Amino acid sequence: MERIWIKDISMYDRKEIEIRGWLYNKRSSGKVKFVILRDGTGYLQGVMLKNDINDKYFDLFDELNIETSVIVKGSIYEDKRAPGGYEMSINYLEIVGKANEYPISKKEHGVSFLMANRHLWIRSKKQASILRIRSEVINASRDFLNKRGFTLVDAPIFTPAACEGTTTLFKVDYFGDDAFLSQSGQLYNEAAAMALGNVYCFGPSFRAEKSKTRRHVTEFWQVEPEMAYADVNDAMNVAEDMLVYIIESVIKNREKDLENIGREISILKKCTKPFIRITYTEAVDIIKSKGVDFKWGEDFGAPHEEIIALHFDKPVFICKYPVEVKAFYMKRDPDNEKLILGFDLLAPEGYGEIVGGGQREEDYNTLVNRIEESNLPLDAFKWYLDLRKYGSIPHSGFGLGIERTIRWICKLHHIRETSAFPRTLERIYP
Ligand code: 4AD
Ligand code: MG
Repeated sequence: MERIWIKDISMYDRKEIEIRGWLYNKRSSGKVKFVILRDGTGYLQGVMLKNDINDKYFDLFDELNIETSVIVKGSIYEDKRAPGGYEMSINYLEIVGKANEYPISKKEHGVSFLMANRHLWIRSKKQASILRIRSEVINASRDFLNKRGFTLVDAPIFTPAACEGTTTLFKVDYFGDDAFLSQSGQLYNEAAAMALGNVYCFGPSFRAEKSKTRRHVTEFWQVEPEMAYADVNDAMNVAEDMLVYIIESVIKNREKDLENIGREISILKKCTKPFIRITYTEAVDIIKSKGVDFKWGEDFGAPHEEIIALHFDKPVFICKYPVEVKAFYMKRDPDNEKLILGFDLLAPEGYGEIVGGGQREEDYNTLVNRIEESNLPLDAFKWYLDLRKYGSIPHSGFGLGIERTIRWICKLHHIRETSAFPRTLERIYP
């Protein structure tokens, strides 16, 4: 007898098959007992009729609890009323592992209880759907870049210097020296682009974010493309194409999961090219026009981004930020020294930044000045400056935050539900 996954059930109509999974729910009305099983790929209702099944299996029903692991065998038949459209007529049941008093019940639990039980919480329908969507977002972003001819080059996690400011560095002891967990693979990506053309890295980034917000985690994943001989517009075009590709892939391959989490997808379908493109200065005008006090030159906080992200019903690029609010490596706008050729991409529905990127400063002397002005240790950047000494070129790239993107695609209140085991300011367990 073939052991199959529930997601493939429709291919086994009127066949005898085996399912290995866990009990999701059960109910009984005398001589008929119903079990709902999950196997990680879907849910299946099984039926046991007293007169059709051996008593020893029928009686095992009483020992089944939520999350008891079980193997069942039986025949599959179509039933429009059953969840998923198919049902199993069970003729064999085996308990693999008992589960007594599973802590998560169907009733409402508080967030801190659920987070402390995250290792179990991920078994629930909504959480498992989010994790499947996460897998799709990651696949789609890599697939997109691979198809475009980008080469994957892994960036290191232990690094000697900051990429995104010294205030959010995690310091570790590296055989008596200080090292820092990577905030971004970008600087190494730039070296790789000089060697290989168009490249990307995909890996974890770490930021010691001391603020407790709904969009910050201390460990997150980024996909970071970097392009040789490319300007800021080229980078925005790739970011736009990539996000469209991600959304289309999720809609196409994870429709059921979007439905499970109750995501209304019409807004996702509206996120077609071209996205909105505005400057920082135009964004400031929009914020002020809503009666919010804001001084040109300051960085946008979450509430400001929310205003912009609610103002348009599509993703919005904001470009040409003031020099002071962005990182040292950003190239200045040749038309206005106060601005940089960098951008953020904001997700609609108030979600805000999901991508950050721009054109890199390619001039050696300017970059030395910027490193010094930012009070960064020149020594640690010697290798990075070499890239401007030996055949420097215009180049650009960006980082798409996986968790931020999923948070928006799934329309989640909090970023913590976008990874299996999120790391936040107040939690490192489980
Ligand atoms: O805007 P950021 O800081 O840009 C960089 O790291 C560049 N070096 C990327 C590049 O050009 N290669 O971060 C990029 C993205 C953000 O837009 C956001 O989506 C995500 O990473 N991000 C975070 N996500 C969750 N929690 C945090 N604490 C995050 N910080 C950044
Ligand atoms: Mg940013």
